[in-house]
Amino acid sequence: MQVLRVTGGARLRGDVSVVGAKNSVLKLMAASLLAPGKTTLSNLPAISDVDIMNELLTRLGCEVVESSDGLVDSVAIDVPEDPSPEAPYELVRKIRGSICVLGPLLARTGRAKVALPGGDAIGSRPLDMHFAGLNRMGAEIHIEHGYIIAEAAQLHGAGIWLDFPSVGATENILTAAVLAKGTTVIDNAAREPEIVDLCHLLQSMGAQIGGVGSSTLEIDGVEALTPTSHRAVADRIVAGTWAIAAAATQGDVTVKGAVAAHLEIALDKLVRAGAQIDVQADGFRVQMHQRPKSFDVVTLPYPGLATDLQPQAIALLSIADGTSMITENLFEARFMFCDEIARMGADVRTDGHHAVVRGTQRLSGAPVRATDIRAGVGLVIAGLVAEGVTEVAEIHHIDRGYVRMEEQLRALGADVIRTESGVFGG
Ligand code: UD1
Repeated sequence: MQVLRVTGGARLRGDVSVVGAKNSVLKLMAASLLAPGKTTLSNLPAISDVDIMNELLTRLGCEVVESSDGLVDSVAIDVPEDPSPEAPYELVRKIRGSICVLGPLLARTGRAKVALPGGDAIGSRPLDMHFAGLNRMGAEIHIEHGYIIAEAAQLHGAGIWLDFPSVGATENILTAAVLAKGTTVIDNAAREPEIVDLCHLLQSMGAQIGGVGSSTLEIDGVEALTPTSHRAVADRIVAGTWAIAAAATQGDVTVKGAVAAHLEIALDKLVRAGAQIDVQADGFRVQMHQRPKSFDVVTLPYPGLATDLQPQAIALLSIADGTSMITENLFEARFMFCDEIARMGADVRTDGHHAVVRGTQRLSGAPVRATDIRAGVGLVIAGLVAEGVTEVAEIHHIDRGYVRMEEQLRALGADVIRTESGVFGG
C-alpha cells in the first residue's frame, strides 16, 4: 500500500501552478455529448478521474484521443450521431461526478440509463432535485436494478425552482434544457465558477443561456449544437489548498494560474489569520510570518466558503492561536476527517454539523488515513505542520484531485515522498 510520508517542519516557498478544475472538467467532457463531432478540451488536470470519464465516453460510443505532458491533459472527443444511452455501474461508481452524463444523454437520445452512484465517504448524496427538474421538463424517471432510467420523447422548457443551489442538479437540468423545446428558467441555480465554465462551453456550442453567473439561468432551447474547443477554468479548490498550506507552514508561495476572485472569502479568512495576500495578474502570492490566528468557518454554496476547503482549513486551525467554530452546511460526514487529525493531537470536537477546534502549538506525526480527496490533502497539510513523520494512507483519494502532489510539495521545499508504508509498520 502506498502512502505519502511527510516529515513536518518545512516552510513552503516558491511557485506552484494550478490547472483546470476537476469539478469542471468532468462536466465539460459530459457536455461534449450534446453535439455530434469533435469537441476539444484543454487545460485538464492529469488525474485518474479524467481517464475514467474518457473510458465512460468511449463506452457511450465516443472516440476519445488524450494527450498529456504528465501534468496537463487535453482531449479530443469525437461524439457519434447516436451515442449509446447506457452508463454502466462499474464506471459510474468510481467517479460520482459521472452522473452529469444524465442530462446530455437524455437531451441527445431521449433516453438515458445511468447507474446510481450510491453514497460516498462525505455522506448521503441524494439526486431528488436532479430528478424533479428533469421531470418538470417532461422526463419520466424511475429506478430499476440500480439504474436511473430516464425517458422523454421531447423535453420541453419549464420553470424550475431548486430547494437548494445544488451544483449537480443545476448542471443536469442545464445540459438537458439547452436542447429542450422552449424556455427553461432555473431559479436558485448554483453559481459556482465551474457552472459558469460549463455555460461558456455550452454557449460556444451555440446554446442560448441568459443570467450566466447569477442564481437565475434562462435557457432557450435550440434544435442542435455544434462541437467546439474550450479551455477549462482554473481549479479554485486546488489553488485554495495551496494557499492554506502556505499560510499553515508560515511560508511564501505564489499560486500561478489561479483566479483570486474565485476564492474571495477563503483568502479573506487567511488575511484574518495574519497572512499577506497579493493578487497578481496570473494568480496570487500568500506570505505568512507568524503563527496563524483562529477564525470561524461556515461552508456555503458559492460565493460562500467551499465545503471542499473545509478539512484543509481545519488542519490550519488545529495549530492556530485561539479557538475556531466550523459549521458544515453541505456534507456533515466530512467531519470523519476530524477523527483522523485527532490522532495527530488536534483538539477537535464535533457535534452534528458543528466542530470546535482549539488550536495547539504543534501536532505530532502519526499514521493516518485519507477518507476522501479533501480529507487527504487536509492530512498532508497537518503532516507539514506536525513534529516528526506522518504517513497518509489511501492516497488514491488524493490522486483523484491533485496531480503528483508530492512532487509539487517537494518543489516548494517540503519533505514528502510517496513510498510503501514502513515507518509505522503498516
Ligand atoms: C459538487 C462537487 C463537490 C462539492 C459540492 C458542493 C463535483 C463532482 N462535486 O458535488 O466536490 O463538494 O458540489 O460544492 O462537482 N442535494 C440534495 N438533493 C439533490 C442534490 C443535492 O439534497 O438532488 C444536497 C446534497 O446532499 C448536499 C447539497 O445538496 O447536501 C449540495 O450538493 P451538490 O451541490 O449537488 O453537490 P454535488 O454536485 O454532488
